[in-house]
Amino acid sequence: MRLPLDHTVRDDQTPSPIRLADYRPPAWRVDHIELEFDLGIDASEVRSRLQLARDPAQDAPLRLDGEGLELLAIALDGRPLDEGTYRYRDNVLEVDGARDGSVLETRVRVRPAANTALEGLYLSGSRERGFLLTQCEAEGFRHITFFPDRPDVLAKYTVTLRADRARFPVLLAGGNPDGAGELPDGRHWARFVDPYPKPCYLFALVAGRLERIERDYRTADGRDVRLVIWAEADVIDCCGYAMDALERAMRWDEQAYGRNYDLSVFHVVATHDFNMGAMENKGLNIFNAKYLLADPDTTTDDEYRAVEAVIGHEYFHNWSGNRVTCRDWFQLSLKEGLTVFREQQFSADMNSAPLKRIDDVALLRRAQFPEDAGPLAHPVRPAQYSEINNFYTATVYEKGSELVRMLAGRLGREGFRRGMDLYFARNDGRAATIEDFLTALGEANGLDLSPYLAWYGQAGTPRLVAEGRHDPVRREYALTLRQHTPPTPGQPDKRPLPIPVKLALFDPDGRMLPLQDGATEQVVVLDRAEHTFVFPGIERAPVPSLLRGFSAPVILECAYAPAELALLLTHDTDGFNRWEAAQQLAWRAYAELRDERDRAALTVWCETLAGLFETMKLDAALLADLLTPPGEVELAERETDVDPARIHALHQALQRELATRIGNAALHARYHDLASDAAAALDAASQARRRLRRRVLELLALVDTAAAQALAAAQFDQAATMTDRLAALAVLVRSAAPQADAALAHYRKRYDGNALALDKWFAVQAQLPGEAALARVRALEADPRFTLKNPNRVQALFGTWARGNPSGFHRADGEGYRLLAARLAELDALNPQVAARLATAFNGWQRLEPVRRGQARAAVAGLADRRLSRNLAEIVGNMLKA
Ligand code: PHE
Ligand code: ZN
Repeated sequence: MRLPLDHTVRDDQTPSPIRLADYRPPAWRVDHIELEFDLGIDASEVRSRLQLARDPAQDAPLRLDGEGLELLAIALDGRPLDEGTYRYRDNVLEVDGARDGSVLETRVRVRPAANTALEGLYLSGSRERGFLLTQCEAEGFRHITFFPDRPDVLAKYTVTLRADRARFPVLLAGGNPDGAGELPDGRHWARFVDPYPKPCYLFALVAGRLERIERDYRTADGRDVRLVIWAEADVIDCCGYAMDALERAMRWDEQAYGRNYDLSVFHVVATHDFNMGAMENKGLNIFNAKYLLADPDTTTDDEYRAVEAVIGHEYFHNWSGNRVTCRDWFQLSLKEGLTVFREQQFSADMNSAPLKRIDDVALLRRAQFPEDAGPLAHPVRPAQYSEINNFYTATVYEKGSELVRMLAGRLGREGFRRGMDLYFARNDGRAATIEDFLTALGEANGLDLSPYLAWYGQAGTPRLVAEGRHDPVRREYALTLRQHTPPTPGQPDKRPLPIPVKLALFDPDGRMLPLQDGATEQVVVLDRAEHTFVFPGIERAPVPSLLRGFSAPVILECAYAPAELALLLTHDTDGFNRWEAAQQLAWRAYAELRDERDRAALTVWCETLAGLFETMKLDAALLADLLTPPGEVELAERETDVDPARIHALHQALQRELATRIGNAALHARYHDLASDAAAALDAASQARRRLRRRVLELLALVDTAAAQALAAAQFDQAATMTDRLAALAVLVRSAAPQADAALAHYRKRYDGNALALDKWFAVQAQLPGEAALARVRALEADPRFTLKNPNRVQALFGTWARGNPSGFHRADGEGYRLLAARLAELDALNPQVAARLATAFNGWQRLEPVRRGQARAAVAGLADRRLSRNLAEIVGNMLKA
């Protein structure tokens, strides 16, 4: 039984889960769909004409998904259907008498302005000035018309839009334009034909008053493409950077993967009202404005890079996702993990590869490891779900990308390219599975990659324990590697996985030793619970550099002496592992402070970093990252009886130690040195200076607070970039500086009309540490600019506070939990997807210290007693189960 066609429950009840094991091919396919829209803000009418094909091996009646549709007319093979020959209930339309080749026509009414869930056809912005758009992934198409809403039904689309010309001058849909014209009464029409069969989740339309910027592009295989970015008039000037990034992404995919674009137009549209980051609809990408708009006055360096990455991500989906799509939603990582990996490669090529790797691994540890260790843990390919929208997770995206990276590493650059070529060639126009992917990669290289399939089915982060032993007599180094994965909900017993460990050995003077064939780096694969690898010809006890470049998504446990980590931090040629050595040292230094033990690691950490700080030789951005210890979320990850207030205090104390060792004078000197060139340039060196400058200011604020606050206030006033302005503001707010209120007021006035800049104003205050946060959040939600209806605003305030500010959210009195639970209930009635995502802030509550644990459980349980959406019910239910 394939449930998407068999929903017999209403949205507000908990349905039985949908299981991968129950997959069956569709009984009915649609070869061609013609859609006609008569668009209006309050009501829109949708006519659809489906050309049906039946699977001769199945005899199920025709059943189509449809949610919240007002059915106005229905006809089969040209004849209106009598009541009694069709039934529309429980979100399924069942039609009697359909045959192979039948044509089903329906006319329905939908209500865009009333659609606060932002799924299906909805209104972005105000009723007077906003525009209409659609979001169909994962199951939004059923909110627009009746259809077998599953990704393995691929159809050709012909779409005609009709609307009032004055109110909706721009009419867009996916595919190639195929005519446009006038209609009576001031109306007009436009038609689009998509020659590539696609699943309905890739359908999109946009209609309203939008401005554009354009560019002509010729693909490597000679196709002329018109690139168009659309945005509302007030922000159209902020689209140039995205256009440049798009061109870079298109060239990159041609060169790196031989992939060319395949339509005559490529449209990108910006909206402020969007549940996710962006969407890869065929020929008509739709972007959360946050990942498209950029200009020096409002965009930070990190955000510029995010725009480039997301532009790349959505563009790369045209092949990894659209031309080759997913058989079912369990295969989501087939497109998402692969596309995140391609996006990461693109960003690494456009910027600094080691810095990118550091960012990506830091994100994995902050977002995915906690998910994998808590009640919401699930495999990269889940075995079951209740609400698919809850599975757009860090596990499916980020861990999924790590799995592709392991495979790519196993095959090498050329082998991976061969495998990808075969994957695309063999699966073009198909809805594929993870097995199809591994098979193609393996066959192109004469390898059996099926052991890696276990990674896709097993949740939890493997622990990799490494123990080295040097034998001076035999002049051998023996490295014993052991693995185990802790149990996760529903998966008590874990199997060993193939873990590729990229390694090098350093001699005590910091030189790399030759290994096999004279190479200094080697990959060993641990494919069982334990194995010992022997390296001959090693004279002196070496320091191993393990898991270089983070060659597998595991937690490495290796009993390094602090001095050995210092050696790697100073000498490792792998930029990522240098940073990793600093992280390991910081972790230990933190534990020493916490347990009031000897300060062996703390001393080495401070000494080594102070030394690197003084040499001036290091790239400024890498230095900034080295000077940054693991964050409070990562520190909490390794503890039981978590007390976020205490972790915050220790995290501050740890950094104060470092700042003290570097010294006020050195910090001041470096700050001024970095400030001497405060231009707005976006080149790597300027970005690196700003990154280090921010870090130096933060450290200074811990040891010379008043002076740092004065510097921050001046930096805020004079900033030439948002990066500098926001960094200064964050220091003022978090250190509760006397200048903070004036700066916030100034910022607020300056950016009052700018939604994205205002989001940062909410977010920076939601980071206020400790007890003071709650009152600030309460004040901010009473601000006239706050609304639960806008996902970005909700994320800026509640997301930042509940997920990014542990000491502010986790109050011992439970007030934080109660406030969040109350807002989740309100939000759930408006937008279940956003509510469910925000609710994951409670993840990890079982590991809190007893007082907070009790408060958190009560808040979550109180939520579970309410009438919730399927989305929020699933998250809350899982949270309480484990
Ligand atoms: N498929 C989108 C991406 O990752 C994400 C998305 C999912 C957007 C669901 C909207 C809805 O590129
Ligand atoms: Zn994606």
